[in-house]
Amino acid sequence: MNILLTGGAGYIGSHTAVELLEAGHRVITADNYSNSSPEALERVERITGRHVTAYDIDITNTDRLCDIFAHEEIDAAVHFAGLKAVGESVKDPLRYYRNNLDGTISLLEAMKLYGVKRLIFSSSATVYGTPEKLPFTEDMKLGPCTNPYGWTKLMSERIITDYAASDPEFSAILLRYFNPVGAHPSGLIGEDPKDIPNNLMPYISQVASGRLDKLHVFGNDYPTKDGTGVRDYIHVVDLARGHRAALEYCAEHKGVQAVNLGTGVGYSVLEMVKTFAAVSGIDIPYQIEGRRDGDIAESYGDPSKALELFGWRAGLGPEDMCRDTWNWQKNNPNGYDG
Ligand code: NAD
Ligand code: UD1
Repeated sequence: MNILLTGGAGYIGSHTAVELLEAGHRVITADNYSNSSPEALERVERITGRHVTAYDIDITNTDRLCDIFAHEEIDAAVHFAGLKAVGESVKDPLRYYRNNLDGTISLLEAMKLYGVKRLIFSSSATVYGTPEKLPFTEDMKLGPCTNPYGWTKLMSERIITDYAASDPEFSAILLRYFNPVGAHPSGLIGEDPKDIPNNLMPYISQVASGRLDKLHVFGNDYPTKDGTGVRDYIHVVDLARGHRAALEYCAEHKGVQAVNLGTGVGYSVLEMVKTFAAVSGIDIPYQIEGRRDGDIAESYGDPSKALELFGWRAGLGPEDMCRDTWNWQKNNPNGYDG
């Protein structure tokens, strides 16, 4: 298949590009590099020995996006492009609504015009809001979301669902990711946060490399196994494989399905710190702080629908996640900037 990846140069997009190229698909990316680097795609080519057709465009520009559809005979799209920093979305909500919602609408308009009927969307477990019970299952009620970023995901899910209802031939999978971490085992691609990281794993790895002095653990008084927050971390290579499986399912089925991508198992902050220290051989100094606003105690999903529908389950565990994160960080202490 010829597969368009919006946001294909980003963290999850670049790993998915590797997986799709290795499965024999052609990959076309549309990215404005607002949170990524074209270097990531050169590295994807190095890992796979295959070519990526890369377009430097803002996908909210529908005319430019349509030019890609006019030239490339796209069979399916995977929609990664979006802004994703929760705190920033609270400070600048209009930018988030404009970019993330316009991006989704623009892509659907181009797909409609060119008769492309298969879509995979990067959604997030954040659409579930604060849990009434765990694990999260796809049929649970959604929202209210705790920040504008989360609302853009929930609203995009709605827009895609309504569009699909207007075209009985359309097929979409809304992939609700839990906490993607890790990197490709080659150490050539990984997560490259532009500023001080907000998320746990990139923060830990920058402490390990000496770029940051210690980890601040946000709360140790949650009703969890050791008092620290529990999350369903999922290796980005497993996640990438999930996209491939979802694309294959999409080719055979119509309609919309929301599907969790997680391992189904939660690990605490301190368990991740200990695992990282064990696999890297580097002590991770940390200090307990107050809870972070908007955090929930525990989050983990039931991943059985992905297994039932498209035969996918996560195969990699916390040791693999920490080992590959560290391998990427130590080989690329300044990310793609060398
Ligand atoms: P990322 O920032 O690394 O990748 C997103 C890519 O989209 C970047 O390359 C960015 O330059 C591009 N982009 C943004 N707006 C664009 C626009 N208007 N036009 C063209 N390109 C644009 O993020 P990621 O971690 O790879 O996440 C991919 C998707 O998955 C996002 O939609 C994100 O919200 C979602 N998601 C991520 C996580 C996570 O923890 N990483 C969790 C749940 C959902
Ligand atoms: C974050 C996003 C969420 C997104 C998810 C996907 C926020 C507030 N939420 O969630 O919208 O869907 O990523 O990956 O950014 N922690 C520390 N110290 C740190 C960083 C984190 O103790 O420096 C703790 C947190 O309190 C939490 C856990 O580590 O218990 C994981 O945090 P993080 O990696 O930011 O992910 P989420 O909060 O789950």
